[in-house]
Amino acid sequence: MTAGAHDPVAELTELRRRVLDGPGERATAAQHGKGKLTARERIALLLDPGTFHEVEPFRRHRATGFGLEANRPHTDGVVTGWGSVHGRTVFLYAHDFRVFGGSLGEAHAEKIHKIMDMALAAGAPLVSLNDGAGARIQEGVTALAGYGGIFRRNSRASGVIPQISVVLGPCAGGAAYSPALTDFVFMVRGTAQMFVTGPEVVRAVTGEEITQDGLGGADVHAGTSGVCHFAYDDERTCLEDVRHLLSLLPQNNRLLPPVVDTDDDAGRVCESLPALVPADHNQPYDVVDVIAEIVDEGTVFEVHAQWAPNVVCALARLDGRVVGVIANQPRHLAGVLDIAASEKAARFVQMCDSFNIPLVTLLDVPGFLPGVGQEHAGIIRHGAKLLYAYCNATVPRISVVLRKAYGGAYIVMDSRSIGADLAYAWPTNEIAVMGAEGAANVVFRKQIAAADDPAAMRARMIKEYQAELMHPYHAAERGLVDDVIDPRETRAVLIRSLAVLGEKHADLPARKHGNPPQ
Ligand code: HXC
Repeated sequence: MTAGAHDPVAELTELRRRVLDGPGERATAAQHGKGKLTARERIALLLDPGTFHEVEPFRRHRATGFGLEANRPHTDGVVTGWGSVHGRTVFLYAHDFRVFGGSLGEAHAEKIHKIMDMALAAGAPLVSLNDGAGARIQEGVTALAGYGGIFRRNSRASGVIPQISVVLGPCAGGAAYSPALTDFVFMVRGTAQMFVTGPEVVRAVTGEEITQDGLGGADVHAGTSGVCHFAYDDERTCLEDVRHLLSLLPQNNRLLPPVVDTDDDAGRVCESLPALVPADHNQPYDVVDVIAEIVDEGTVFEVHAQWAPNVVCALARLDGRVVGVIANQPRHLAGVLDIAASEKAARFVQMCDSFNIPLVTLLDVPGFLPGVGQEHAGIIRHGAKLLYAYCNATVPRISVVLRKAYGGAYIVMDSRSIGADLAYAWPTNEIAVMGAEGAANVVFRKQIAAADDPAAMRARMIKEYQAELMHPYHAAERGLVDDVIDPRETRAVLIRSLAVLGEKHADLPARKHGNPPQ
């Protein structure tokens, strides 16, 4: 080639280099100064090395007005494409906050739409790395329509491919609703916030003074609102856990999660289990220890750990296969089911059912939480969400009553009557409409009041009730528990049961969709 001749390949290489560099060192330093990584640094942490394939790097907006026509950066503020995580394809988009604050305009939105359509067509998970200021103000209604297109695609992909939202910066207005439609939301403390209207608007409308973090920081959403499933101190650890979560999920709803080899013996006797659960039914313990003892060593991955801690939802492995574990947590509120716990468990059950993850439910539950506040806030309809989720779940379902299981909470927590494939109980089980003390107060009130010695009569009635209705074989005698098992054999029994249910086929009646309680 003669000197000075046009070299299209060299031009492409130079242009690509400029796209990769982005808006320059000052903007990158500003991003780092806020304690945040750039979009491309995040992608490098998320994906297997060297696997990123970018789509539409040269896309630019075509908006005019407000000086936009003079500023048309490549990518338009969002990096999109696909790559591998643990060798499996994942589609992603990552806002580049350095470009228009990562705000979403027409071209930016269309890039996201395209990658979402590709993920759905390819049957592979979608991960969004969110760090943007919401609708691009200068682009007006086209920006709003762009969000609509994302919400529609999020909703249509729900239950088909796993969708994971990672919030790594501000996520305001429209930007907050897409994560809410996805299966999992990750956030980083200090740098990530989600809110529909920011502190300025809140102050103007309600007079409340609050910081961005106080309004919608990671701990607020992980512990109070329940919007966020996982909160971290830094982006690197956060993205490591996104990779781990992806390793537990199938690529789409037609496949099973990956199975791994395990050194943990399928027949391992869990010697410590009887001691982990105190005989006194009112004594608390940490059910996470129980789960950890049953499942493959080191595989408990809690979801929504900070929110509604009275129920534990965790992904784990049993003989190398992924299971979803739902367990009452006697350490918090005695493991009672309240509104938040019902919503948390319902969403988890639905997620597991969508993605062919068998359910293992461990019961130790005194009932639903009584109270005016709970009733007025709608514990009936919120509790019904958990019922609805279990009743419609077609994956293999196994429940184990560890200790007490009373009333509606017993039914809801995957009893045989709502469709558990196999229901087990430890010999310490106590399944009844309510505890003996409460029952005596209701059913034997008159006899107790009329007795010469009411206290003695009460004690006698409680004893009779316990002997008649609460003995550990009462449910088994009626076929409502399939077997009473030695606690130490729980792991082996679960693994054998899941193996036999592996090919389970259960169809729901044909319908457009159900009308779940909201
Ligand atoms: C265009 C925007 C922008 C926006 C920020 N920028 N928000 N550009 N549209 N929405 C630009 C800024 O002008 C600035 O440009 C750059 O992005 C960085 O912004 P800063 O404010 O300097 O950054 P920071 O201090 O970190 O604050 C980030 C922020 C704040 C908290 C996100 O910018 C903010 O509150 N922005 C407005 C958020 C918002 O109200 N969005 C609309 C939501 S309504 P320069 O050139 O100076 O670097 C919505 C509708 C959809 O989304 C609803 C559907 C349900």
